[in-house]
Amino acid sequence: MSENTTYTADVIANIEDLDGFLKGKVSEKRYIHSQGVAATTARLLELYPSNNYPKTWKGFDAAYFCGLAHDIAREMDDASILAYCHENSVELTQQEIDAPVLAHGKVSADIVLRMCPGYPSSWKRAIEVHTTGGAGMDSLALALFVADFIEPSRRFMTDERRSYYLASPNLGSCAYRVLCDMIDHWRERGFLSIANGSLEMKADLEAKGCDEGRFPWMDRNAAGGGRSCS
Ligand SMILES: [Fe+2]
Ligand SMILES: [Fe+2]
Repeated sequence: MSENTTYTADVIANIEDLDGFLKGKVSEKRYIHSQGVAATTARLLELYPSNNYPKTWKGFDAAYFCGLAHDIAREMDDASILAYCHENSVELTQQEIDAPVLAHGKVSADIVLRMCPGYPSSWKRAIEVHTTGGAGMDSLALALFVADFIEPSRRFMTDERRSYYLASPNLGSCAYRVLCDMIDHWRERGFLSIANGSLEMKADLEAKGCDEGRFPWMDRNAAGGGRSCS
C-alpha cells in the first residue's frame, strides 16, 4: 500500500506534538525504542559535553528531537521509501536504491523537515546518517548513532557491553567501539557488504585516533583482544 506522503508545515510545534506524531506512525515497540534513543542520546551528550552542534531550537532539545524523529520512516516498506524519495526529491545512493531500508534516516529527516521547516541542518544530518554512520559526524550525530545501538530496549545488548562503551575516553572512541560491534552484528545476520557510510565513518574516526579497539571479548580473530576493527 502506498504511504501518505503529504505533510504540512508547522504541524509539529513542540516535543509533545512530535511524540504524538511518532506514536501514530510506528508500532509500540518502535515508539518505546525511539523514546529510549532520545533519553540515551541526552545522557551521552551529558557524559561527553560538546558545543559543536546547536543544543536547542525553537524550544526543542537536540537529543529529544533527533531521538524521537530518527525512526519515523523505519516501518515504511521498500516501495513506500522509494516512492517518497521520488516524490519529494530525496536523493538516494545506489546502495540505498538496492536496499531502501538504509534510507529510512533520510526519509525520517525529510518528513520532519516538512512539518518543522528550518530545523537545524546538523540535527537533520544526525537523523540522516544514524543508520549507517558517515564521515565528519558531530557530537549529536555520534551520540544518536551510539544511542540507537545501546538504548535500554535493545534485546541484543547487555549492561556489560553498555558499560564498556560508556567507559570510552571520548564520544568518537565510544562510537568507534559501537561501529565495530555493529559491523559484527550485521555480518552475523548475513549482511556481508558493509554500507559505504559505515566505512567512511570508520576511516574518519581512525584518522582522528578514535580506533583503540572493539568490545574485546567479541573479537574472535585476534588473540589477546582486538585492537582494531576489520
Ligand atoms: Fe533507524
Ligand atoms: Fe532506531
